[in-house]
Amino acid sequence: MIEEMDLSVLVTPTLQWYDQHKRQLPWRKDKNPYHIWVSEIMLQQTRVEAVIPYYERFMQALPTIEALAECEEDPLLKLWEGLGYYNRARNLQKAARKIMEEYDGVFPGDYETIRSLPGIGEYTAGAVASIAFGQAVPAVDGNVLRVLSRVLESHEDILKQSVKKHFEELLRETMPKERTSAFTQGMIEIGAIVCVPNGKPKCEECPLESLCLAERHGLLDSIPYKAPKKPRKIEEKTVLLICSSKKAAIRKRPDQGLLASLYEFPNTDHYLTADEVREYLEKEQGVTVESVEPLGNAKHIFSHVEWHMNGYLVQTDQIPGQYLAVERQELQNRYAIPNAFQAYYQKLMEVLA
Ligand code: ADE
Repeated sequence: MIEEMDLSVLVTPTLQWYDQHKRQLPWRKDKNPYHIWVSEIMLQQTRVEAVIPYYERFMQALPTIEALAECEEDPLLKLWEGLGYYNRARNLQKAARKIMEEYDGVFPGDYETIRSLPGIGEYTAGAVASIAFGQAVPAVDGNVLRVLSRVLESHEDILKQSVKKHFEELLRETMPKERTSAFTQGMIEIGAIVCVPNGKPKCEECPLESLCLAERHGLLDSIPYKAPKKPRKIEEKTVLLICSSKKAAIRKRPDQGLLASLYEFPNTDHYLTADEVREYLEKEQGVTVESVEPLGNAKHIFSHVEWHMNGYLVQTDQIPGQYLAVERQELQNRYAIPNAFQAYYQKLMEVLA
């Protein structure tokens, strides 16, 4: 890597470009730290276009830190349904409660205090401090890692903590004292829409093109470098849509671990045939099975695990006692069912209609 490049050369082109090209996004309408914070948490792992409707709905339901602090868990998870990484929602609430209790409901304005709130790491603290409070602190996310590793021609693994730290240090020295908000968002925005995460970067639109060493040396395919990850664990499951007179069976997941406290369709941790499903429900759950219809396979990828599922629609004389029996409306409005079940959820909606 070209260690000695002075990153202050990035400031003016980034600011000028941001002023002209920034997207109008709902969380850019003001500098309310609550707005910036919630948007940044939602934007971790999720694209801007997907986040916008979630963000709008969240702010309508919970317009203040106080409202978030007081929300019950189920409606909070319902607002987050489909975004994934549900601990992010729980941590948002923990932090909101801490702000109510320790800071009189006022979002703290300095980096260190922001960083000490639950669920807020270096990136988010830097983003909120620089965007909402004008502090000259860096915010290095995946977008910024990509831009900087290319500009500096760094072949280091961008997933390494030491690389992120190094970029943070470089930026800390060169962050402008004025316009911190535009600079942070400009760097992120270049990474999001010019130096794009998937596909060919749009170098002809990039304000940093003339400074970019990876582009000068034809290295855009190999930078940013990420070391290969170890393969995900595969878990096989059978998912059962157990229906009886327009009601379906769901249950709450345990309050620890993957998808904690969300609701799910009954499932087993191995594949079952249609006959085995019938036998399991009749012998072990004491209901009469009227029909078993195979629904085919589905796959869901989490960060460390993949679920490979087969599914069945089962009509029974009653919903087995251990489950909640819910109608279509309640499934839609009340219980958060994670995206992992999406393929079967659609089918159930048709059956319950
Ligand atoms: N991705 C992460 N933070 C962002 C922001 N503030 N604007 C646009 N994309 C982002």
